[in-house]
Amino acid sequence: MSAFSDSQLREIRADFPALHQDVNGTPLVYLDNAASSLTPQPVIHAITSFYAKDRANVHRGVHTLSQRASTRYEAVREKLHQFLGADDDTEIIFTSGTTIGFNMLAHGVTAAFRKQLEQPDAVPQVMLSELEHHANIVPWHMMYDLAAQCTKNPFLRYFEFDQSRGLLNHPDKNGCDILSLTALSNATGVIVDTNAVVELFNTPPQFILIDGAQDVVHRHRPLDALIFDAYVFSGHKMCGPTGSGAIAIKKYLLDQLSPLIGGGDMIQSVSWHQTTFQKGVHKLEAGTPSIASVIGLGAAVDYLSDLDVHACHAHEHALMTYAEEQLSRIDGCRIIAPGLEKAGALSFVVDGTHPHDVGTLLDEQGVAVRTGQHCTEPLMNKLGVPGTVRASFMFYNTPEEVDRLVNATTQAVALLR
Ligand code: ALA
Repeated sequence: MSAFSDSQLREIRADFPALHQDVNGTPLVYLDNAASSLTPQPVIHAITSFYAKDRANVHRGVHTLSQRASTRYEAVREKLHQFLGADDDTEIIFTSGTTIGFNMLAHGVTAAFRKQLEQPDAVPQVMLSELEHHANIVPWHMMYDLAAQCTKNPFLRYFEFDQSRGLLNHPDKNGCDILSLTALSNATGVIVDTNAVVELFNTPPQFILIDGAQDVVHRHRPLDALIFDAYVFSGHKMCGPTGSGAIAIKKYLLDQLSPLIGGGDMIQSVSWHQTTFQKGVHKLEAGTPSIASVIGLGAAVDYLSDLDVHACHAHEHALMTYAEEQLSRIDGCRIIAPGLEKAGALSFVVDGTHPHDVGTLLDEQGVAVRTGQHCTEPLMNKLGVPGTVRASFMFYNTPEEVDRLVNATTQAVALLR
């Protein structure tokens, strides 16, 4: 079944110390990678070597340690650029993750839109999909609440999601100002062809924002041929540290983006009553950044780049297909969006049970999954479920772990129903 030989898989797994432990008296099966992947040894080493040797602030010192820290930190932009398959018109802004990335964009893109129109209160038409994570819904609500003249919600619309057909065409092709879409649904694992969605519009949206939080580690060079203005992702789902992430952004949008957060390191000049901002990415990276996390993210990119990425994706795909087949055979177990093309994650419900109960019983057998709404409450309501059980996979998972998931689920179902 696997694109890896047993020994290749063993070698990969040896890089991830957290995989090798017992949970509740049995070897851990870690299937919560969509929430956070595990960390390979070279990333742990990069972080500890920063703290042990190069521990200083960046961009602020002429002394050697600060220079070393700055060099290591800045080098990660180019690593990410390569890894993503970004073109010369794309820059990398470091963030602490996808959520702050979307907050920065909702603020900055709305301001850019208003500036273009020379209307300080103009409200953009924003289109999302029903698959979006709260991180790509709530910031728009917050912008909307701030738009004083907008007392209903006319500016926010959603592409409908159908479990058998995926995202449905929207009847209103007149367009929108901002299209903000996930490329890979965290809750269901469903892949979204965002280019095809863009092409549905008679007039292309002015700003196209893509949630790459799940996509970034399950697609080779995700920006190759992608239509986007900004692509947002987190480091901790791609074997990097928590508190790391980035926005890949087209230069023209970066130039127009106003910062959400002000402070040190993002200014050109400050007087008592006025600030001018730095040019480029630094205007969006106020304050002391999470230096160790960025350096760790660079090590994660190096680690992933050294793997056979096509074999990794083929392996994950085989695991997902096998898991979907096996779980569907359990009486009462319903896969969400069965048959749709997925990557990384697989969600299911067991009729007559609550997902948290299933998840707790799985944990008792050492199997870690995420249960609940997955920060997609509107989607769960649409699906008519209180939540789901989500198993999510990485290249270091094994077919035997799928068997453990299936066996544990079978036993949980027998107990609960
Ligand atoms: N967004 C993360 C998930 O889907 C936390 O679990």
